[in-house]
Amino acid sequence: MSLLVVRVPPFFPVPRNVDAYGILSACMHITWLGHSCVLLSGSKKVLIDPFIETGSVAGTKPDFVAITHGHADHMGEVVTIKRPTVAITEIAKYLKARGVPSEGMNIGGTLVLRGVSFTMTPAMHSGRIEETGQGYGGGTAAGFVIGMDGVSVYHAGDTGLFSDMKLIGELYHPDVALLPIGGRFTMGPAEAMMAANFIGAKLVIPIHYNTWDKIEQDPEPWKEAIERTTDIRVKILKPGEMVEVKPAT
Ligand code: NI
Ligand code: MN
Repeated sequence: MSLLVVRVPPFFPVPRNVDAYGILSACMHITWLGHSCVLLSGSKKVLIDPFIETGSVAGTKPDFVAITHGHADHMGEVVTIKRPTVAITEIAKYLKARGVPSEGMNIGGTLVLRGVSFTMTPAMHSGRIEETGQGYGGGTAAGFVIGMDGVSVYHAGDTGLFSDMKLIGELYHPDVALLPIGGRFTMGPAEAMMAANFIGAKLVIPIHYNTWDKIEQDPEPWKEAIERTTDIRVKILKPGEMVEVKPAT
């Protein structure tokens, strides 16, 4: 009987960056602004899915915006804030036509922009760009593994559970996983608990819940269950709260 050996790279390189003074940045602040909107702040600022229910994200002045899919609760203010944006090719084309400087990519690819790496991952979800009228085809929904300052963060986007999340863990070794737990339109807590196991990031942060009644969830029992059965830590943030993450040594 022969043994199939799959050789997995020991790690996927995460960019290290220096700040304006030439000093190596070695920490990232992750701020949950609400819903699926997360700001990664380090040597650069990356804003993922710039939608919040009340107020505006324009004040964050990100270097880059990353869009997971075309639904309105993820596109948010992308057209009005007009920051350099990374998205699947169909959405990038749509945004360019609206004056947003955009870089297109697709699932499985990596794009490095000014020391920030964007790897696009699959998501089990729909992806049409929602607008009054017919809307536009927005390609398929996606997630991202985003790396800078030696830290890598997986934002799952909107998705159901899929077992290839194991590959995301084995290949990209994210330090942090941002997982939807709201249910109905995405994974709920049970699926997201298995997702956390598949991915194996040391820190997990729940997103895409309690924005509206339809995605109401109590994250506390979920946190308790994960922390009781694994070494994974769960950080429940309130909108606007942040956590500091340092590169794994
Ligand atoms: Ni969606
Ligand atoms: Mn959504």
